[in-house]
Amino acid sequence: CWLANFVALIDTTMAAPVVDAEYFKEIEKARRDLRALISSKNCAPIMLRLAWHDAGTYDVTTNTGGPNGSIRNEEEHMHSSNNGLKIAIDLCEEVKAKHPKITYADLYQLAGVVAVEVTGGPTIDFVPGRKDSLVSPKEGRLPDAKQGVKHLRDVFYRMGLNDKDIVALSGGHTLGRAHPERSGFEGPWTKEPLKFDNSYFVELLKGETDGLLKLPTDKALLEDPAFRRYVELYAKDEDAFFRDYAESHKKLSELGFTQK
Ligand code: HEM
Repeated sequence: CWLANFVALIDTTMAAPVVDAEYFKEIEKARRDLRALISSKNCAPIMLRLAWHDAGTYDVTTNTGGPNGSIRNEEEHMHSSNNGLKIAIDLCEEVKAKHPKITYADLYQLAGVVAVEVTGGPTIDFVPGRKDSLVSPKEGRLPDAKQGVKHLRDVFYRMGLNDKDIVALSGGHTLGRAHPERSGFEGPWTKEPLKFDNSYFVELLKGETDGLLKLPTDKALLEDPAFRRYVELYAKDEDAFFRDYAESHKKLSELGFTQK
């Protein structure tokens, strides 16, 4: 009936993230601490990966997983896809100790946003208010680098994301490198792995280059026409990449957020 619909509408509006002024102030202080930490330790890549792996477990159908800080649970960071991320979790503890009010869920996503910013990437709008969870999803929700187009769609569509998000977010590989002892893969995707730019797409279109990595899931972006269109756009137009990346990263960082 109309009354039930009206109440449901009010309820959805009320569920929008709300934090008080004091919490906002702590966020701004933590943002400064993260800038200093990430710049001094050159750890932007692993911080971005931490934010992505906390968020990327989201399942839109069951509203489980997502950016809720659950990756700090040993059970979850011991999943093989999270190899190495304990380093980033421990680095974040330094900031958490200074700002205990901030949830882990917000802290990890803020670290991801700051990592992109301090390496020269776009400014990503950050809305605080995520709740922490101690419930970890079962292993296997994050993408497997050895697979291809269908797998990428299965995993990202499960999160509620689309083709443009898949390609834009894959551009996160403009930062960092693979470590044989963590993933079995080796090397950076670009010549300047501490600089956030569109070189991931430029290198991808160039084909194999000595010393640079291309995962099977990276190459899959060239095979599918819908994906490839975005790869070509981002390689020639960095502004378009930055615009779409900032939008997709915000979506990733807020998966399931307003429904909680
Ligand atoms: C690193 C897979 C998407 C950001 C890696 C590594 C693998 C991988 C295998 C190497 C890990 C290591 O050995 O240390 C994938 C797959 C994806 C994907 C299959 C599916 C599309 C993303 C997304 C982002 C991202 C969406 C962020 C927006 C990173 C970063 C690193 C990394 C920054 C470097 C970490 C470091 O240097 O320590 N990824 N990834 N990846 N990934 Fe992804």
